[in-house]
Amino acid sequence: MSSIVLFGPPGAGKGTQAERIMEATGLPQVSTGDMLRAAVKAGTETGLTAKGYMESGQLVPDGVIIDLIKDRILEPDAKNGVMFDGFPRTIPQAEALAEITPVTHVIAIEVPDERIVERICGRYSCAGCGSVYHDTFNPVNADGCSCGQWEEKRRADDNEETVHSRLGAYHEQTSPLADWYRSKGIFHSVNGDRAIDTITADIFVVLNS
Ligand code: AP5
Repeated sequence: MSSIVLFGPPGAGKGTQAERIMEATGLPQVSTGDMLRAAVKAGTETGLTAKGYMESGQLVPDGVIIDLIKDRILEPDAKNGVMFDGFPRTIPQAEALAEITPVTHVIAIEVPDERIVERICGRYSCAGCGSVYHDTFNPVNADGCSCGQWEEKRRADDNEETVHSRLGAYHEQTSPLADWYRSKGIFHSVNGDRAIDTITADIFVVLNS
């Protein structure tokens, strides 16, 4: 069993690349952001705790996140490893993950802050299948998403004000993890400020090396 971590600032393209890696490797995507949004929608205790943090662009407390991951990793589709998207985001989360499952590759998608606002404010997705699109960079086809259940969805936290708090949280709490993983020899960086297909190709060079 071996798992991959997709690492990077909000809007770097983790979810976009995760869809492609999932198709090619069969590893299930485990996005803590998606899990938290589902919990908020369902009105669970976790969702009620997480909602305010997410709306203000702060990180949800480590204990909440680690409990979610401990449960998720026990599901049958995770038995051969998973692809984490947006987790871990703090050193305590990474330490907890090391106790739960081995990680072979941490792939950091590097995008400068000035690109992030336009990426996040133009993002939308298909409510039917979750595929991610962008007003300018990756628009959906004129007849909708190929899943056949096209319905446009935009995230409540995808606004300019929240993006700045999310970037602040990334630089203060998440980016120190890069050195933590570098010291373990499993950290790989790719330039995320290029075409989506070019980035995917670079990620597969890393995964196949
Ligand atoms: P989460 O849902 O994880 O959001 P995020 O990290 O802020 O990342 P995003 O999903 O916004 O971006 P992405 O990198 O997936 O980019 P995407 O592919 O969509 O977290 C939300 C909140 O939940 C957090 O703020 C926090 O409160 C909480 N949370 C979640 N996990 C947590 C944890 N572990 N600990 C504590 N709290 C946690 O791409 C963005 C846009 O750009 C899209 O429109 C896409 O089409 C476009 N795009 C992608 N690639 C390119 C490219 N190469 N060129 C041009 N456009 C591109």
